[in-house]
Amino acid sequence: MTLDARILGIETSCDETAAAVVDARGAVHASVVSSQLDIHSVYGGVVPELASREHLRNIVPVVRQALEEADCAYRDLSAVAVTAGPGLAGALLVGITYAKGISFAAGIPLIGVNHLEGHIHAVLLDAMRESREIEFPTLALIVSGGHTHLYLAERGEGANDLRYRLLARTRDDAIGEAYDKVAVTLGFGYPGGPVIDKLAAYGVPAKEPFTIPSMKGNPLDFSFSGYKTAAIRWREARLLDREIQARRELRERCAAPTLEQWLEVTPRETLDLLASFQQTAGDNVEANCRAALAQTGARSLIVSGGVACNSALRARLRDSRFPAPAWFPEPQLSTDNAVMIAAAAFPRLARKEFSGYSLNPLPGMRLESE
Ligand code: KG4
Ligand code: ZN
Repeated sequence: MTLDARILGIETSCDETAAAVVDARGAVHASVVSSQLDIHSVYGGVVPELASREHLRNIVPVVRQALEEADCAYRDLSAVAVTAGPGLAGALLVGITYAKGISFAAGIPLIGVNHLEGHIHAVLLDAMRESREIEFPTLALIVSGGHTHLYLAERGEGANDLRYRLLARTRDDAIGEAYDKVAVTLGFGYPGGPVIDKLAAYGVPAKEPFTIPSMKGNPLDFSFSGYKTAAIRWREARLLDREIQARRELRERCAAPTLEQWLEVTPRETLDLLASFQQTAGDNVEANCRAALAQTGARSLIVSGGVACNSALRARLRDSRFPAPAWFPEPQLSTDNAVMIAAAAFPRLARKEFSGYSLNPLPGMRLESE
């Protein structure tokens, strides 16, 4: 494999249709992400059937645009990489089927990639581009709308070749799901992470009503469903219908309300609730990462997934009092994208470890190296 080798990455595991062209040096020649947010936000979450239909509609123009932006023909590619799982079966199938078609027609290898490994490679790619060394073994925390997983990652044989051990995961909702459900419960709409992130800074966090659950069995595991329930109870104990209605009307009026518009329809008590939620969820993540660092002796922490965009989480894990250096990808590479899928395929290209045309969606695909 030469440094000029280029991989076309394709990602369709959830509600983003994405394609990217990345080379072995880590240079991104194109990255196209077509979001389905407008379609799913009406329902307060991702509707799998609608996601598959939208991927079908978008996959051809998205891949074509990526190749055009990269000024690249199929014959210039060394491989096509596609998310094989975990994710929604029907959504994954669209990307996999299209990638197989490209592989067959262009005579280039097909590489099925684990979406979670993709998120981890978003951080490795940033480090490679900035010639920065990540200290191994590292903890890898993936925090998104579908996942809350904590791994121990050690170096494998080749460059950027890692081996993983699952240390902890959520037993119920993912942390992004908790952000989204708290937001929907209070009329902020879907997705909730970005708006709660902005507004929480204007509230004063109290201890109530959120608590960090203590986990039987593996104490490093997470549980976020209690946060949603606490927000629902908090809302039920108050007369918030008019306040919530005002926020719904704001969302109907404007696709992307400004901070000032949100603040106009969000009284202090609600801002304090959002601050408490963000603080407790952050305390929970930080405590588990500290415990995992102490338990494993890992020398750094890498964080990826949509919730890695959260400003408070970035600040607390990058604080000098946190016991290890914490690395985050730039925000566009934190949320779902295809750059990370192409990046994760390079070690496999170097090993000539290709997928056959029997590659099928693996909705529950795991990451641990057996
Ligand atoms: O990785 P991602 O794009 O898709 C999944 O694989 O789920 O993550 C989306 C999730 C949503 O739950 C969204 O609310 C959350 O990431 N999110 C945030 C922020 N930006 C996105 N959560 C907290 N703070 C943010 N700034
Ligand atoms: Zn993801």
